[in-house]
Amino acid sequence: MLERLSNKRIVLGVTGSIAAYKAGEVIRRLRDHGAEVRVVMTRAATEFVTPLTFQALSGHPVHEHLLDTRAEAGMGHIQLARWADAILIAPASADFLARLRIGRADDLLMAVCLASNVPLAVAPAMNHQMWSDPATEDNIRVLRSRGVLIFGPDSGEQACGETGAGRMQEPTQLVGQLAEVFETGALAGLHVLVTAGPTQEAIDPVRYLSNHSSGKMGYAVAAAAFEAGARVTLVSGPVCLPVPDGVQHIPVLSAQDMYDAVMPRMEDVDIYIGAAAVADYRPELVASSKIKKDEETLSLTLVRNPDILASVKRRYPASFCVGFAAETDNLEHHARSKLHDKGVDMIAANWVGVNAGDGGFGSDENAIRLVWREGELELAMAPKTKLARELIGHIAQRYQVRHKSALTGDNVLRFTKQPDN
Ligand SMILES: Cc1cc2nc3c(=O)[nH]c(=O)nc-3n(C[C@H](O)[C@H](O)[C@H](O)COP(=O)(O)O)c2cc1C
Repeated sequence: MLERLSNKRIVLGVTGSIAAYKAGEVIRRLRDHGAEVRVVMTRAATEFVTPLTFQALSGHPVHEHLLDTRAEAGMGHIQLARWADAILIAPASADFLARLRIGRADDLLMAVCLASNVPLAVAPAMNHQMWSDPATEDNIRVLRSRGVLIFGPDSGEQACGETGAGRMQEPTQLVGQLAEVFETGALAGLHVLVTAGPTQEAIDPVRYLSNHSSGKMGYAVAAAAFEAGARVTLVSGPVCLPVPDGVQHIPVLSAQDMYDAVMPRMEDVDIYIGAAAVADYRPELVASSKIKKDEETLSLTLVRNPDILASVKRRYPASFCVGFAAETDNLEHHARSKLHDKGVDMIAANWVGVNAGDGGFGSDENAIRLVWREGELELAMAPKTKLARELIGHIAQRYQVRHKSALTGDNVLRFTKQPDN
C-alpha cells in the first residue's frame, strides 16, 4: 500500500499547533516511501518550529509567504498547487479549519488549498474543548461534505494536560491513510531503463552521421514511467529537451557509447524500453583531423554498430524488452519481424517519412501500432505525452501477465544472465 506514495509530490501544510513538531516525522515517513515533499508553514507554525528544521528534513526550502517576490513570476501558490499530487495539512489548527471552510486566501497555505484540485487531507490537532466546540464540528461537517479528507483526530492525553479527542494522529497512520488516496502505481517498485534520441557517429572531429530523432517520444515515455511509480534511468543521445523530473539521466553520443552505458546498468532493470534511434552503422575509421575537400568524391566504409535491443534481450532474457520501430513502409510486417528476430516482448511501431501524417520525428504527436506475440493494438494519434502514458499502461499490463506466468511456471523463462556475443 505504501508503495503508492512512490514518486508522489506532497505539499505538507503545517499550522500553529503544539503538534507542529510531529510534522518532521511525517516528512520523514513520506520520504521513506518515495514521496517528494514541499512544506508550507503558516506564520503561527513558525512560532512553534523553525522552517530550517523542515527544510533540512524535506531537502527543500520551506514556503512561508504569499507575497513572495522570489517565487517564479511571483505566483508561488499557483506553482505549488500545480506541482502537488496531494495536499496534507498536519497538524491542522482549529483556526485553519475555520478559514478553509470559508475559503479565505489570506496566506500562502490557504491560497494553495484554494488554487488546487488535488486530494486535500487535514489532520486536526487541538484541545478537546476546541475540537468538540459546535463551530469546529460544523466546520468539519462542511469540509467533509466538500470532499476534504479528515484524518483523525485521536483521543488521549493532551499537551495541555487534559484528556479527550483532539490529538493529531500518529505520523505513520497519517502517511498510511494518505497512501490510500492514490491508485497503485502500475510500475511501483520496478526499475525501467529508457533509451532516447539519436546517436552521432563521428566521421572526423567536426562531422558525424546522425538522424532526425528529437527524443520527444523517449523522454515522454521516461516521464510516464516515473509517474507510474518506477525508478527510471534515461540513456539519451544528444537532444534539446529538459530531463524529466526524478529521472536519472545518462547522456551519450554514439551507438557504442549507448551500448556501453546500457549493458552494465541492465543488471537490476525490470523493463527496458528502447526508444532511441540508434545508428545501425558507423564509419569504420574516424579521421583524426578534418577531412579536406581535395577529391571529387569521397567514400566512407561503414561497419555495423552493436544491436543494443537484441543484445539486452539475449544477455538479460528475464527483462521485459520493448523496442521501437520507425518505418517508412510495411509497418506491420517490419514490426512483427523485429519482434521475432530480436526475441523481444513488444514492439511499438510508428510511421516516419511521407506516411507519418502529423506524427513521426520532431512532431509533438504520434500514433503507434503496438505488437506482441499474442496480440496487437492501435494507439491513435495523440500528443506524445498522452501516448506515452497509454503505452506505459499497456507495457505494465503485459509485464504483469508475463511476470505472473513466469511465477506459476506457465512459461519457463531463463532467469539467468546469458553471455553476450
Ligand atoms: C502554546 C500554544 C499552543 C497552541 N496549540 C494549538 C493547537 O494544538 N491547536 C489549535 O488549533 N490551536 C492551537 N493554538 C492556537 C493557534 O496557534 C492560533 O489559533 C493560531 O492563530 C493558528 O494559526 P494558523 O491556523 O494560521 O496556523 C496554540 C496556541 C499556543 C500559544
